[in-house]
Amino acid sequence: MKGIILAGGTATRLFPLTATTSKQLLPVYDRQMIFYPLNTLIKAGIKEILMIVAPEHSGQFLNLLGSVLKKYGVHLIFEVQKVPRGLAEAFVLGENFIGKSNACLVLGDNIFENDFSKEIRNFRSGGQVFAKKVADPERFGVVKFDKNGKALKIVEKPAQWISDYAVTGLYVYDNRVVEFAKSLKPSARGEIEITDLNNIYLKKGELKVKVFEGEWLDAGTFDSLLAAGNVVKEKQLYKNFHPIIDQAIKEFNCELKDICRKKLF
Ligand code: DAU
Repeated sequence: MKGIILAGGTATRLFPLTATTSKQLLPVYDRQMIFYPLNTLIKAGIKEILMIVAPEHSGQFLNLLGSVLKKYGVHLIFEVQKVPRGLAEAFVLGENFIGKSNACLVLGDNIFENDFSKEIRNFRSGGQVFAKKVADPERFGVVKFDKNGKALKIVEKPAQWISDYAVTGLYVYDNRVVEFAKSLKPSARGEIEITDLNNIYLKKGELKVKVFEGEWLDAGTFDSLLAAGNVVKEKQLYKNFHPIIDQAIKEFNCELKDICRKKLF
């Protein structure tokens, strides 16, 4: 299984904060947002990770993450997405990186309380997504179930209510995902949609949808960014990190302090 983190986009909803940096580098309580999706993958044992970033922020990502995880056997590769053409483009940009493997995509602004490493490690074929009941389904890809809990269809940001279950930003697919992603046509909003990709697997009867209860934060607006920081602090989600990441952050901090000290004397 290879991992992809989608951390590009323009994040205009967070202007002016994102006029100077990437959304995924903004702080969520005591660390940058990007450490959360990294943790999701590293906990699941994924050691090869493609980080897709916007061109204007690639240097900042490299400064923060370029070498901190290497000595722990985590290989981060960076790819620039020039224009945000949609989430499914991750698998087109990632074609060579994915090679013959399966792929797990996590969105750079998604924070999960749950640990999905069992599902990711046990994945064999088809697709697997994770759904959560929300109060504002019109903001998300939404999955409609029949009375037996079988997923019937997924609609991206439905104008009419179909269900309260949002598809969250963690997706696991078999290797066919690359071909499926390449076959997609842009939607009315001009993006190649992850929801269309999910519906390909769903129509084949090969998409598993797991409903979960824990906290899920999509930190894309001022309110959800603030809520994310508060939830992380109150529920102490910063304690759920894999030791590799905690250690890497500590070492990075020490390095920074050292540089500052040298500059002072
Ligand atoms: O958070 C879950 C939702 O994410 C799903 O329910 C939706 O089905 C899915 O379309 C997506 O909706 P959003 O409107 O929240 O997506 P957004 O445009 O905010 O992009 C999500 C992340 O991916 C964000 O960190 C920016 C990054 N991104 C986005 C696009 C469109 C890229 O890196 N490249 C892109 O082309």
